Amino acid sequence: MSDRTKPHVTVLGLGRMGAPIASAFLVAGYPVTVWNRTAAKADALVAQGAVRAATAAEAVTAGSLVIAPLLDHAAVRQALDPIASVLRGRTLVNLANSTPDHARDLAAWATGHGADYLDGAMLALPETVATPDGFFLYSGSRRAFTTYRRELEVMAPAHYFGADPGAAEIHDLALLGTGYAALTGFLHAAALLDTVGTSPEVFAPLAARWLHGMAGFLPELAGEAGRAAYAGGTSTVDLNRAGVDSLIQLSRASGITTDVHEPLKALLDGRSADGHGQDSFSSVFELLRARAPEQQ
Ligand SMILES: NC(=O)c1ccc[n+]([C@@H]2O[C@H](COP(=O)([O-])OP(=O)(O)OC[C@H]3O[C@@H](n4cnc5c(N)ncnc54)[C@H](OP(=O)(O)O)[C@@H]3O)[C@@H](O)[C@H]2O)c1
Repeated sequence: MSDRTKPHVTVLGLGRMGAPIASAFLVAGYPVTVWNRTAAKADALVAQGAVRAATAAEAVTAGSLVIAPLLDHAAVRQALDPIASVLRGRTLVNLANSTPDHARDLAAWATGHGADYLDGAMLALPETVATPDGFFLYSGSRRAFTTYRRELEVMAPAHYFGADPGAAEIHDLALLGTGYAALTGFLHAAALLDTVGTSPEVFAPLAARWLHGMAGFLPELAGEAGRAAYAGGTSTVDLNRAGVDSLIQLSRASGITTDVHEPLKALLDGRSADGHGQDSFSSVFELLRARAPEQQ
């Protein structure tokens, strides 16, 4: 039974993320209208108490808070461009993965049509929606974030990154990049161990333990990079060059690709060749960070 004192929530897009999001609002007692391009995906939510809208325009008209966990930027534009006029006076929360520039474009477009715009990025899996294990990032209208904070927290713990609509996407991509590097490292290692009969399932708990320890190392790494203070570290460039070199040699001898670690080796070699072999591993940051054009 929905609570009439709560704002009416519209969810556009009932894919892997949209369906549990709509369900979470129903469980929390919100009146919920749903729309999906493929209408049948709304069936279970309608059985749970959601109202099915026949069109995206009908769905947007029903809600003061419009949440759009659609596939990507193109899908958002395809769904919303033809119905821009009904956005006026509503708050649009775009949860599709996109780039900062796409987020800024959409913010300007939505604001131009009289909507309050919040860009969101979901650091969660379908099964961690509405649990403390997921978290969502937001940027754009501070008024929208403040007004609907309680509703945003229904989906996941909510973090606001400021008025630039692109800020949530930059932070999202940075986190994805961190994860991709770690997970690709795991898959490479699993392929390596496969050659000696250790299965990925057996390796996974060991890797998880190691990654947990690595996470504890981040504050030290961040402190060194943040202060550009690389002297006296225990894990030096040259020490890690040797480690990465051994890994590449073993990969080659085992018939495993060296593509994953060659870029890191090139960075460490570059740092060492510049006379920084005894600096901390974190000094690789100096080769990665953006430079003024005249320094490139
Ligand atoms: N899945 C994850 O683990 C996960 C985690 C974090 C973030 N994300 C992000 O969350 C977003 C949604 O992902 P998802 O996993 O829920 O995707 P999904 O299961 O593939 O669902 C995509 C949704 O977008 C709709 N859609 C696609 N193209 C459309 C168009 N042109 N017009 C209207 N609707 C369109 C689909 O409608 P139909 O049902 O009609 O195809 C469906 O509702 C993505 O940006 C993804 O990167 C996903």
